[in-house]
Amino acid sequence: MSDGPFVDVPISAVEAFWNASPCNIHNSPYPVGSREYFDDLERRKYFVEPHIPSFADFDRWKGKRVLEIGCGVGTTTISFARAGADVTAVELSTESAAVTRRRAQLFELDHRVEVHVGNAEQLSSFVPVDTYDLVYSFGVIHHSPHPDRIVNEARKYMDTRSELRLMVYSRVSYKLFWIMRQENVWDMNRIDELVAKNSEAQSGCPVTYTYTPDSIRKLLKHFRVLDISKAHIFTWDVGAYRQHEYKKDPAWAHVSDEELASLEKELGWHTLVRAVLTE
Ligand SMILES: C[S@@+](CC[C@H](N)C(=O)[O-])C[C@H]1O[C@@H](n2cnc3c(N)ncnc32)[C@H](O)[C@@H]1O
Repeated sequence: MSDGPFVDVPISAVEAFWNASPCNIHNSPYPVGSREYFDDLERRKYFVEPHIPSFADFDRWKGKRVLEIGCGVGTTTISFARAGADVTAVELSTESAAVTRRRAQLFELDHRVEVHVGNAEQLSSFVPVDTYDLVYSFGVIHHSPHPDRIVNEARKYMDTRSELRLMVYSRVSYKLFWIMRQENVWDMNRIDELVAKNSEAQSGCPVTYTYTPDSIRKLLKHFRVLDISKAHIFTWDVGAYRQHEYKKDPAWAHVSDEELASLEKELGWHTLVRAVLTE
């Protein structure tokens, strides 16, 4: 990834973007920071992204150590802690980290959650190197100018019994076609630019890489990849969703759950990866 299209983007631009709008922060109508807000945010996140609980497999990490890279506002951080894991969470955005800290305190899980602020491309400069059972990073490394540096840092926190669980955006997905339709640009040479502009709720994300199974294997060259699968097609009307309502987008109104599940395996926006270090 050292020759990727976003290598020259300063990390300060990435930080400013996520500080201006921490991930999912507007996904609940309740007052930000309240108990109702966090409960609602969690319900909504796992309703729209039901593959997360099975992918993270929270209960499996009870009594184990989890390093979460890019915790955002802490939805999965809290789920890991609630399941009994000790979580070290890392986040570039001070605003997001503050919400995660507040969330851990509110739910009296702060003894299980430690939040560090910094650029995960330089993780070992601010998080003491130690071995973790799980390194978990969901939707994060593709937003950093040098994802390969984060992967190389993550290795330092693993031994051969540790597992890496990553979600990165898929290069080929229904979302890509949806974006091309929105923008009315049918130029496959402009995938990176179009995806970066439209990948998040708030437009103009400075860095968004996308991955194929081949590019993931290259990125994880020091790992043995256990599995790679695709999940998640957003089937909701975006306008209604922004008002916290769920109405099916007409394109998906008549598609059965079985058909959706099968299309998600081919065209899902989330590529889920599990890997371990090679000996
Ligand atoms: C799409 S959000 C995902 C947040 C969370 N994992 C979730 O699933 O809700 C991406 C997050 O990655 C963080 N991030 C991006 N680059 C980072 C870096 N180099 N180091 C640490 N965090 C980073 C952003 O600040 C943002 O909170």
